Amino acid sequence: MSLLKIRRFSSSSVATAAIKNVTVIGGGLMGSGVAQVAAQTGHKVTLVDLDGKVLSKAKNGITANLGRVAKKQFKDDPAQGDKFVSLALANLSTSTDVAEAVKSADLVLEAIVENIKVKHELFRTVDAFAPKDAILASNTSSLSIEEISSAAPKRKEKFGGLHFFNPVPVMRLLEVIRTPHTSEETYKAMMEWGKALGKVPITCRDTPGFVVNRLLVPYLAEAVRLVERGDASAKDVDIAMKLGAGYPMGPFELADYVGLDTNKFILDGWAKKFPDEPLFKPIQMINEKVAQGKFGVKSGEGFYVYKK
Ligand code: CAA
Ligand code: NAD
Repeated sequence: MSLLKIRRFSSSSVATAAIKNVTVIGGGLMGSGVAQVAAQTGHKVTLVDLDGKVLSKAKNGITANLGRVAKKQFKDDPAQGDKFVSLALANLSTSTDVAEAVKSADLVLEAIVENIKVKHELFRTVDAFAPKDAILASNTSSLSIEEISSAAPKRKEKFGGLHFFNPVPVMRLLEVIRTPHTSEETYKAMMEWGKALGKVPITCRDTPGFVVNRLLVPYLAEAVRLVERGDASAKDVDIAMKLGAGYPMGPFELADYVGLDTNKFILDGWAKKFPDEPLFKPIQMINEKVAQGKFGVKSGEGFYVYKK
């Protein structure tokens, strides 16, 4: 069964939806994926990053991925495929100016580095410039949505979590997070938007790691500890979990795919939050790799080496 179920343009559902203009902040792995899916489902998207080079890379990646989708979805009608790609690209613009980019947004989704201070700083700017009715959301993997929303204290009812999965164009789940302050209207608009993107939204309270990462992060951490102890090699652990448990990737392949820097941010944050929990104790091997700039697939090396 194909993993990929891409929604075709449905301009009528977008025209009646509450969320039409989307600003995605952070043009890395996740932000570029969300921007792609939103653009290909008929939303006007502005993708923002501090770094113009990241935005060029994101645009190239999105163009290539849209081509991949078009080839599959319109295999008997290449002209329609080309139209699909150009319509999606026409929906997408990029910017390095947060204040300007959020001015007419219905939804501002943050997908920047997993660091509460940096996220707070960003949301203070977003709060100052976004329309008062805009929904603000974070794609955080591990931080508290309520804590992030404290940077926009007057908008707590308009604030929620929209947690996508990597690679965004392929993974169908969306975790929709409501804090005790998220209004019913905001929650429903986030759920509807998730469906308009072709995702399957589930709801979770604002609890560390939500559903997936609460289970996945300890699993990845235990896999690394197993190798640190010398019980098995990373390659054998990966083979074991793929062939013995039916996972599409082994834990080391997945840790590299998610990004070891992001894994470290999550683990360090939870080590502070849960000082008595042995599952979140620092992991030497991950710390060393991150210190050496080995972030996984995105930097060309992590537990494995990747072709540039
Ligand atoms: N854009 C569009 N399509 C893509 C794509 C992309 N970026 N990447 C892959 N695809 C498509 C391929 O075209 C292919 O489509 P068909 O099956 O229709 O032909 C399909 O996806 C499978 O791709 P591949 O054949 O290239 O590779 P694969 O079969 O090895 O699958 C994978 C790749 C989907 C990534 C699979 O290995 C997988 O599911 N891995 C696990 C991913 C995972 O667990 N993600 C969650 C990480 S945790 C997280 O995200 C949360 C967090 O906060 C950290
Ligand atoms: P990434 O490192 O690939 O990209 C982050 C981007 O944010 C970088 O391009 C950086 O230049 C940009 N950035 C940093 N500070 C910024 C600012 N103040 N304004 C604008 N741009 C800024 O990271 P990622 O993997 O895409 O993760 C982004 C977020 O999504 C994190 O919160 C992460 O926890 C979460 N997340 C990651 C994954 C994953 O598998 N990697 C999955 C789900 C959620």
